[in-house]
Amino acid sequence: MTKYQIHGGNPLHRTIQISGAKNAAVAIIPAALLVDGTCRIENIPQISDVTLILQILQELGADVRTVNRTTVDVDCSRVRNRQVPYELARKIRASYYLVGALLGRFGWAEVPLPGGCDLGGRPIDQHIKGFVAMGAEVEVRNGLIYAQVPDRGRLTGGQVYLDMVSVGATMNIMLAAVLASGMTVIENAAKEPHIVDLANFLNSMGADIMGAGTDVIKIRGVERLRGGAYSIIPDQIEAGTYMAAVAAAGGEVLIQNVIPKHLDCITAKLVEMGVEVEERDDAVLVRRNGPLNRVNVKTMPYPGFPTDMQPQIAAVLCLARGTSVLIEGVWDNRYRYVDEFRRMGARIQVDGKVAVIEGVGGLTGAPVHACDLRAGAAMVIAGLAAQGVTEIDGIHHIERGYETLVEKLSGVGADIRVIFVPDEESQSQVG
Ligand code: EPZ
Repeated sequence: MTKYQIHGGNPLHRTIQISGAKNAAVAIIPAALLVDGTCRIENIPQISDVTLILQILQELGADVRTVNRTTVDVDCSRVRNRQVPYELARKIRASYYLVGALLGRFGWAEVPLPGGCDLGGRPIDQHIKGFVAMGAEVEVRNGLIYAQVPDRGRLTGGQVYLDMVSVGATMNIMLAAVLASGMTVIENAAKEPHIVDLANFLNSMGADIMGAGTDVIKIRGVERLRGGAYSIIPDQIEAGTYMAAVAAAGGEVLIQNVIPKHLDCITAKLVEMGVEVEERDDAVLVRRNGPLNRVNVKTMPYPGFPTDMQPQIAAVLCLARGTSVLIEGVWDNRYRYVDEFRRMGARIQVDGKVAVIEGVGGLTGAPVHACDLRAGAAMVIAGLAAQGVTEIDGIHHIERGYETLVEKLSGVGADIRVIFVPDEESQSQVG
């Protein structure tokens, strides 16, 4: 078993490079299924979720070639298999994009229900509603999603109003619609940067998608998509996580390869807390020397404050002067990390979707568990700011979404390393 060991208390200095966006990459890679020819996908983050989705495509028969550390060539022309292996699909949420992509390309798909972080109920009824509006028959049975167009023909454009703003449903319906006959309209669509990135990828391969980034997206189906090259946007949440790390640990770090506009929702809250953020063309300089002020935060779909930054901002609020109120506006259960924070001296009360965080003078190092990806990132932030030693287990969750986190943080002066714990010791900790 491996853990992160952090000796906290070092302020952070110098620069961090941000990698490509996880939640864009895990949709753009399956989108290659819709393309005749080779897609060169650049700025791919080296994280386990991306490795898994590439592995699934290979299992389906795609030709995947690594060009360099951040670039792959994916050619799905010879894919014939539409049945996604359970062992791989269950490990990752984004495996649901294979339904939209396979349905759009072949008129049928058989995909196991997806896995991913446990954030409370994660239904896919809106995805299914979209496919049905385009003429598909969809059934969920024995842990599998069976979707097909009668006679395995082509989907037809449809009108879909999403009952709630869903990133996954918006992207999945876009994937299914690009090769459908006629126009599909998605109303109440999500507006996250990765929605726009997926639309830009598909349009650069010949799709006809309008309105991505607004709440109405129109997709005029085309006959075919052709290969090309595309570079994925920088990861908004990875950048926000390191901004929060500087806020918690103090110091001054230039966070490079970002789109500052995508960070506005995070920057605004950090500035309210007394953190200095200077925007450059493709970087933000984050500086924190003085005390942190309390703030209230409510998570919302983009351009609101992202739910995927909620645990990380909670770590910073633990260190602020005064009491902050945090409201989770997207997921039912995203406070499972709170007990771990309490081990480090945090004072947090949770009632449903509301957390009340009483700032404490400082946190103290402790052994803690990363229960999901962003909770794990928040443990790292708390550990960087805490006095003493923090050991974090469950780091496979963190590695799903953060490329070379230990190297990036060590590069700005953090004392963080991976340690190996003998199995016997880790077994005796399981209760
Ligand atoms: C994506 O999940 C991200 N995952 C999540 O990031 C992120 O938290 C979430 O969007 C919100 O931004 C990926 O991109 C792979 P949703 P997704 O559909 O698409 C409800 C991370 O840490 N809903 O936007 O699955 C749902 O229960 C991860 O990187 C339905 O009720 O989220 C939730 O309350 C965790 N029915 C809300 O909508 C549906 O059919 C938003 O979910 C779909 C969603």
